[in-house]
Amino acid sequence: MRLNISVTKKQKAFIDAKESEVLFGGAAGGGKSYGQVVDALLFALKYPGSKQLILRRTFAELDKSLIRTALALYPREIFSFNSSSHTGRFRNGSIIDFGYCATEIDVYQYQSAEYDLIRFDELTHFTESQYIYLISRVRGANSYPKQVKSSTNPGGIGHSWVKARFVDPSPPTESFIGKDGMDRIFIPSLLKDNRFLTEGDPGYRERLLALPEREKKALLYGDWNIFEGQYFTEFDKEKHVVSPFEIPRGWRKYRTIDYGLDRLACLWIATSPEGISYVYREFCKSNLTISQAAAEILNRTPVTEEIYATLAPPDLWHRSQETGKSKATLFSDYGLNFTKTSNDRECGWLAVKELLIGGEGRHSVRFFSSCTEIIKCLPALTVDKIRPTDCSTEPHDITHAPDALRGFAIFHTRPAEVKSVAKCSWTKDMWEDYLQADEAGQKYLKQKYGEPN
Ligand SMILES: Nc1ncnc2c1ncn2[C@@H]1O[C@H](COP(=O)(O)OP(=O)(O)OP(=O)(O)O)[C@@H](O)[C@H]1O
Ligand SMILES: [Mg+2]
Repeated sequence: MRLNISVTKKQKAFIDAKESEVLFGGAAGGGKSYGQVVDALLFALKYPGSKQLILRRTFAELDKSLIRTALALYPREIFSFNSSSHTGRFRNGSIIDFGYCATEIDVYQYQSAEYDLIRFDELTHFTESQYIYLISRVRGANSYPKQVKSSTNPGGIGHSWVKARFVDPSPPTESFIGKDGMDRIFIPSLLKDNRFLTEGDPGYRERLLALPEREKKALLYGDWNIFEGQYFTEFDKEKHVVSPFEIPRGWRKYRTIDYGLDRLACLWIATSPEGISYVYREFCKSNLTISQAAAEILNRTPVTEEIYATLAPPDLWHRSQETGKSKATLFSDYGLNFTKTSNDRECGWLAVKELLIGGEGRHSVRFFSSCTEIIKCLPALTVDKIRPTDCSTEPHDITHAPDALRGFAIFHTRPAEVKSVAKCSWTKDMWEDYLQADEAGQKYLKQKYGEPN
């Protein structure tokens, strides 16, 4: 049987790609989904009895796009589709499951499944944890290639992790080995690559041209540096990220935290007399108990560094029904006393925006380049679909460091005064007293002798 299908150059590159993980990503209408459907057909025919899974985030999307295209393209003589199980079967024994993962737990439908190839269409609609779980289902004892092939536009909740996994590490179309040892490739797709659409519907390009600037960049040019839905559009690496320097002694320093067992985020921030707040240290780690979290934070704060306040969100003051103690009390038992900030998310995010905008005579914020988590997470936050003034709480793992920054932003309303610096030189005895003193004692000694030198 002869198939009457022709493909674009980029679709051919996608079909031919042999890397373990492939991303076909870029402009809307570049032919990505069509490429997936054709590639799935060729794989099914080449490897009899093979198993593939094609995923979209929701069933409605799957039904309207991939299933429809497959049913139109796959010859009836060799392919049948069961619309209740969403399984397509080929006469040679190959199968294609059409699936979706609307929620985080939907991935467990595939717990005992085994596939030679998994395809994600609109990969940026998925979270990284969904992807990581699902790709573990690529396995099997046969000798067929084992791959994960995805297609997507820039934007969506998964924009940042997809960009970091496929787009940032290597120039387009160059195969590379990721830190985890997996080989990957990113194949960009542009509207001009798809003559089927540009010739068939010349007005399509014009319609994309009429979109607002940011959406136009993502959907017409497939630009990964900008995306629809980003919350902190003000964030600019060039402007906000600075090389680390030694913080002058008199500047007021804060710690600000977000704590849950899932992740602790702590930022150390110093404010210059001009009102520039520098995030100069960060510590983010998962699965820490309160005593461990407190110890990590205290260990990372040199004894000579005086912290004016350690800020924490109000929910840490909620009392546990069993013990009657709040998390804030427990932290205090382990040597860390908090100052309560506000939980007003909208005001807090607006305060962060103000800090990012900054400008003459206004408060602003800068990040030491060593603070990689906040630099990665802040620009990755997306606008909440239901409350557009709020940030989306998904993907959850990127929210912690920004939440800590939000606590600082809403608390910090005026430039700190510069503390007076020591007039006298600290003697060995003074130092010994200081190092043996508790927190209150150290404060007293600093008031008496000035800052240690
Ligand atoms: N090789 C081809 N032969 C015929 N038609 C094609 C081919 N490739 C793509 N098309 C058509 O071009 C249009 C856009 O293709 P497709 O939907 O695959 O693009 P896309 O990159 O997935 O777009 P989006 O980003 O909007 O999801 C569709 O109508 C599709 O049928
Ligand atoms: Mg598509």
